[in-house]
Amino acid sequence: MTFRMGIIGCGAIGNVHAETARRAGLTVAGNWDLLPDRVAGMASKYEGCIGHASVDDLLASDVDAVAVAVSNRCHVECAVAALEAGKHVLLEKPMAMNVAQCDEIIAAAERSGKILQLGFVCRGAPASLAVKDFIDAGRFGEIYHAKCSFYRRRGIPGLGGWFTTKAESGGGPLIDLGVHVLDLVMYLTGSHDPVRASGQVVSKFGSPIKDYLFTDMWSGPPKLDGIFDVEDGVTAFIRFGSGMTLELNATWAANLPEGVHANGVTLLGEKAGCFFEVFGDDVTIATEEEGRIVDLNPHFVGGDNKKDDAWDRQYAQFIDAVENGVTPHADGASGRRVQSIIEAIYESSEAKREVELH
Ligand SMILES: NC(=O)c1ccc[n+]([C@@H]2O[C@H](COP(=O)([O-])OP(=O)(O)OC[C@H]3O[C@@H](n4cnc5c(N)ncnc54)[C@H](O)[C@@H]3O)[C@@H](O)[C@H]2O)c1
Repeated sequence: MTFRMGIIGCGAIGNVHAETARRAGLTVAGNWDLLPDRVAGMASKYEGCIGHASVDDLLASDVDAVAVAVSNRCHVECAVAALEAGKHVLLEKPMAMNVAQCDEIIAAAERSGKILQLGFVCRGAPASLAVKDFIDAGRFGEIYHAKCSFYRRRGIPGLGGWFTTKAESGGGPLIDLGVHVLDLVMYLTGSHDPVRASGQVVSKFGSPIKDYLFTDMWSGPPKLDGIFDVEDGVTAFIRFGSGMTLELNATWAANLPEGVHANGVTLLGEKAGCFFEVFGDDVTIATEEEGRIVDLNPHFVGGDNKKDDAWDRQYAQFIDAVENGVTPHADGASGRRVQSIIEAIYESSEAKREVELH
């Protein structure tokens, strides 16, 4: 059986959802966006896809499930409406703007009995899978420290648009990029109990908008009369009840020569440690075997396009959840957990001290 998928939000990632749904054998049956040309553009690409005139229209149609790929502020209203209309939901990251909204979405999912899966696509990257296999087999022992870095030199997305407007996005690279790696580390290590966080966010590059130097930009040229009131860099330190600590660095812009700092995830375990770029070509696991210090380089499973692989796995899991009732591992609780860390880091930055997670 294949089911009928609706797409809410037909921008950059909405189109990736539609294409991945098609590759997975689903029917892209309907869509909706605030911008009519985006609705029409996507509808014309998929046979039988109906471009709807409102979100209510789409949710009243016979789609079985929807992908929610709108700006962050609208995640809660779209996800709750979809669940209340009896649709399964694949919800983009970040789950919402804050923990209270995550709770609203989780409650709606519980009431409806429908599947809620989060778009934590990095979990399905070939490198992540390789590391997870070794961790689950006990090869790392206790993982006591993790470090994740997501540095962009000049990569503010859609400067002046919704990404850089706090009321629309909830924040900058912490909620946009940090969300991916915070989730990934908790998923891989099994440390699910963040207790305290200390962090600092900075905003140094996007204002005034006309002075921002860059070579390219996600989602079009800067909007010169737009808003930039979010951070463009974050550094944070998180303590877990398990004893693990986690260091996070993420920038949309920084005066950092290319290649000086590796972008990726480092895990330090008692028996083994590793470093990998999430969509990189290899993983190095540093360990000891037969009385020697050795590096292991597991081969990857999958095709050449690591991002497509990860997206395909995300959809395979969503389909398994919808068709067979298998609970997705990227569930509402994991989205809420990441959001609670993000909220604590913003709070810590404001208070200039370590804070407890609520
Ligand atoms: N998984 C990933 O790797 C990844 C990557 C980029 C973005 N994202 C997430 O995907 C979401 C969309 O990001 P994007 O880069 O596609 O942005 P985008 O600006 O390209 O697209 C967002 C679209 O949503 C539409 N929209 C906004 N509010 C709406 C509403 N209430 N109803 C219908 N349409 C609405 C806009 O008109 C726009 O077309 C964000 O939450 C972002 O964090 C995920």
